[in-house]
Amino acid sequence: MAELLNGQRRTVMCGRVNKFYLGKKTTLMGWVHRRRDLGGLIFLQLRDRSGIMQVVFDTDVCSKELLDKASTIKLEYVITVTGKVRLRTGNNVNPNMKTGELELVAEELKILSEADTTPFSIGDDGANEALRLKYRYLDLRREALQHNLVTRSKIYQITRNYLADNGFIEVETPMLGKSTPEGARDYLVPSRVHPGSFYALPQSPQLYKQLLMIGGIDRYFQIAKCFRDEDLRANRQPEFTQIDLEMSFVDQEEEVMTLTEGLLCKMFKEIRGVELPERFLRLSWTECMNRFGSDKPDMRFGMEIQCLDETVKNSEFVVFANALNDGGTVRAIVLKDGADKLSRKDLDKLVDFVKTYKSKGLAWYGLGKDGVKCSFAKAVSEQELQAIASKLEMQQGDIALIVADADWQTAVVSLGALRCHLASKLEMYKAGDFAALWVVDFPLFEYSEEEGRFVAMHHPFTSPKNEDLEFMRTDPARVRAKAYDVVINGDEMGGGSMRIYNREVQKLMFETLGFSDEQIADRFGFFVDAFKYGTPPHGGLALGLDRLVMVLTDTTNIKDVIAFPKMQNASCMMSDAPAPVEDKQLKELYITCEEPND
Ligand code: AMO
Repeated sequence: MAELLNGQRRTVMCGRVNKFYLGKKTTLMGWVHRRRDLGGLIFLQLRDRSGIMQVVFDTDVCSKELLDKASTIKLEYVITVTGKVRLRTGNNVNPNMKTGELELVAEELKILSEADTTPFSIGDDGANEALRLKYRYLDLRREALQHNLVTRSKIYQITRNYLADNGFIEVETPMLGKSTPEGARDYLVPSRVHPGSFYALPQSPQLYKQLLMIGGIDRYFQIAKCFRDEDLRANRQPEFTQIDLEMSFVDQEEEVMTLTEGLLCKMFKEIRGVELPERFLRLSWTECMNRFGSDKPDMRFGMEIQCLDETVKNSEFVVFANALNDGGTVRAIVLKDGADKLSRKDLDKLVDFVKTYKSKGLAWYGLGKDGVKCSFAKAVSEQELQAIASKLEMQQGDIALIVADADWQTAVVSLGALRCHLASKLEMYKAGDFAALWVVDFPLFEYSEEEGRFVAMHHPFTSPKNEDLEFMRTDPARVRAKAYDVVINGDEMGGGSMRIYNREVQKLMFETLGFSDEQIADRFGFFVDAFKYGTPPHGGLALGLDRLVMVLTDTTNIKDVIAFPKMQNASCMMSDAPAPVEDKQLKELYITCEEPND
């Protein structure tokens, strides 16, 4: 029978009991984590957010009545126990537990809440994920998840303090808004009062934060919920959180970047005790692509991509020759000591791997202990092989993995992906390694084959570099943006830009994107209008808060840093959202639903 707490107070949290409490009357509250019944002696482990404390019901100390009551307790019951703290003796001492030298000798016990047998045992990290997500509130009792949420909470606090100290004010922007030009699909909310009209949940507060600058807020930040209806991955959720900020009277990327470095350094220091460099490395987008085949390079390990164009320019190997003749390139990475490590079967798998990145194949050339092993040895001369080895500075035992392609991007991207794949498989980095950098000088535009026009790589309000303005009309592909992404351990932690505040430049931008005046008015009308009334130079950035929690907790699954996350198909196992609604609700919204044809 559950009993009332009746205003009783706990003295201390379970995991915080220490020698200060020795011999003192102490009240603990929590969940029963483990139990051991040895007849006249019952041991319980009592758990709360702070940790676990051993409680003992000992007939030498407690009444038979109390012992009988304690014997009815099952796992996950919520109880409160009062007693005296004493030192454990002999084998009872547990050096692996924070409170492992102490135990509470129970004198009083209240069962506050009984518990059915849980669908999986609390603390079992191996339980099926779908089951854990269905009973998320039970999964949340797990130490690892609680640790992640505590870290998340620390990030909020550090962010708020740091930005407030730097003159930023926290402003909330609407959840019910108009579609923003961020590129992903919107989550729409139908309006009852305006039949046929929809709000869009924000993909980010981008437009609002720029309007706040026009509104004179000067320095804004928000821990902002964002919604994007896009395909989910291990580091993406349909609703996620950004640390979003914007500042006025700046026109150099460095100002936002330096401020952000300060924030990230503080987080890593306070949460992990790690000193990130005060100034992160800055690499241009082109350099990142060439060296790492990615605009979010993982710098925790080497294995950089190298160019073999010059070395194989006269090659008779058709794969190399064709790629070069078609204006393409031949690139390679070298896996140290990989020649004997990678079997023929492994190499075949790597060929399949690069093909998923549109590469036509993968050539290899290894200096194994039993001699050269090379997929194209028959097609090239001995000298050419030697020239490749020398260019790549290969040593005995190394293997070169080579992609030739008519398209530069395909060659570097597939090798970049292979580089990360191998490093992860061969454990070339360890937990606690952190490598942060800025990727800068992004192209302002990218050409969309689908739309047959240039589209903005970030968004249409990102400012071009002053020195590239002259190419806006003549050679848009050449124009670089005042945009920057911060990357940690190969994951994009955040990005931002200096914004266009000059009307002429904005006009030129829209022209290049091929928008008519009507389209501009229709899509961004209220926003563009606002720029007519005195706009300060401004810029900002947004950090993906969930991803920051992931790196700071060495977590690879974004679900593990969000209290109530969504599954891969954007549904919630626990609440069954999304779900059909009653006809009456649809009617009020003037909505009828059709079954999909397929
Ligand atoms: P961007 O779209 O690059 O920029 O987003 C900023 C950061 O948000 C994180 N992020 C996500 N995290 C989890 N799940 C997702 N689906 C997801 N999508 C993005 C990433 C990313 O770097 N308004 C601009 C910022 C600006 O220009 O100021 C913006 O939203 O870590």
